[in-house]
Amino acid sequence: MSASPTTTTMSGVFLPGDSTAVLREYDLPQPGPGQVLLKVGASGICGSDIGYIYRGYKTHKGLDGAPAYHGVIAGHEPAGTVVATGPGVHRVGPGDRVIVYHIVGCGECRNCRSGYFISCSDEERRKSYGWQRDGGHAPYLIAEESTCIPLPQELSFVDGSLIACGFGTAYEGLIRTAVNGSDTLLVAGLGPVGLAAAMIARCFGVRRVIGVERTPGRIDFVRGTGLVDDIVLADDNAVQNILELTGGEGCSVAVDASGSAPGRSVVVDAVAEWGRVSLLGEGGRLETEVSDSLLHKQVTIHASWVTSLQGMQDLTGLLARSGVHPELVVSHRMPLEEADAAYRLAAAGAEGKVVLVPGEFA
Ligand SMILES: NC(=O)c1ccc[n+]([C@@H]2O[C@H](COP(=O)([O-])OP(=O)(O)OC[C@H]3O[C@@H](n4cnc5c(N)ncnc54)[C@H](O)[C@@H]3O)[C@@H](O)[C@H]2O)c1
Ligand SMILES: [Zn+2]
Ligand SMILES: [Zn+2]
Repeated sequence: MSASPTTTTMSGVFLPGDSTAVLREYDLPQPGPGQVLLKVGASGICGSDIGYIYRGYKTHKGLDGAPAYHGVIAGHEPAGTVVATGPGVHRVGPGDRVIVYHIVGCGECRNCRSGYFISCSDEERRKSYGWQRDGGHAPYLIAEESTCIPLPQELSFVDGSLIACGFGTAYEGLIRTAVNGSDTLLVAGLGPVGLAAAMIARCFGVRRVIGVERTPGRIDFVRGTGLVDDIVLADDNAVQNILELTGGEGCSVAVDASGSAPGRSVVVDAVAEWGRVSLLGEGGRLETEVSDSLLHKQVTIHASWVTSLQGMQDLTGLLARSGVHPELVVSHRMPLEEADAAYRLAAAGAEGKVVLVPGEFA
């Protein structure tokens, strides 16, 4: 089942921070205690890599005040097959298919013990794949066993790489709202995370999803996925149009995956009375009138960051049981050798998700 590496070196993607992605040669790594060597099956390109590393990482500081990107192999959305294990590894073995949860936490602080490695409070030991330690844009990756989530047979490596970040994020945002089959969902921003929210909400029984998007190229792609019932253009009439689509009531659950102040205003203004809002998009501001828009409507606002280890595992089960595939939101799969072109596409706002698939085209 497992293909042991036959070479001693490999190419990996380094991001110099000048809007290019370059391939460098690296020694093939060996797993240490508690670690596994993974043959990467797929590794997604994330919007945060574009915004905070690809275009110029030196200005984006980490907790220690130094650049958050440490010049390592990029890619924090890997999925693949275990090919070798280091001492003390007992939960996974060669041949196992896994998703890599993208942050290694200390495992001991309050957040790590709750499974939220993303919020690990130990600044020294918290390390993100593709930022502070080598990531998935390479044929092989060293992963901590503690970050390996089993990937069910029903799901592909590309599915797994999407779950590692965007789908995990959307899942957490939705479970905070306790979304269910009686809800109508509004999603602002129909990029990979917004589409993930639409797909997962359907797994929870939601029958109607209304999306708001501002980019025409994206809208055509989204139509093709069939994940969104009504697509509203993000213009001055967006709230009015959503209210008309819902008989004047608005949507009972509304998610912002646009990361923009106007997108957030739409979800707040078009959410129904007693509605639940979930903020997923990073950056910028939330600007809203308070009394009529929030208090008098009895609105609850949630904000979440990625998900927990268990949340990610629960999500794999939900998707597998529902017979759906996150890779539906992928518009481009490209080999590692074309990483520069792949990053260019993602940075230019590709219609859907861009994923590097090492080896598939070799
Ligand atoms: N909370 C988390 O843990 C977490 C994790 C991953 C990503 N994110 C964030 O989620 C957001 C979405 O990620 P993505 O990869 O889908 O990004 P993306 O940039 O591909 O998608 C954002 C979409 O929003 C659209 N948009 C922008 N302004 C809009 C507006 N006013 N109204 C409607 N649509 C608008 C854009 O055209 C784009 O299609 C980003 O901000 C990303 O940083 C958050
Ligand atoms: Zn990501
Ligand atoms: Zn911790």
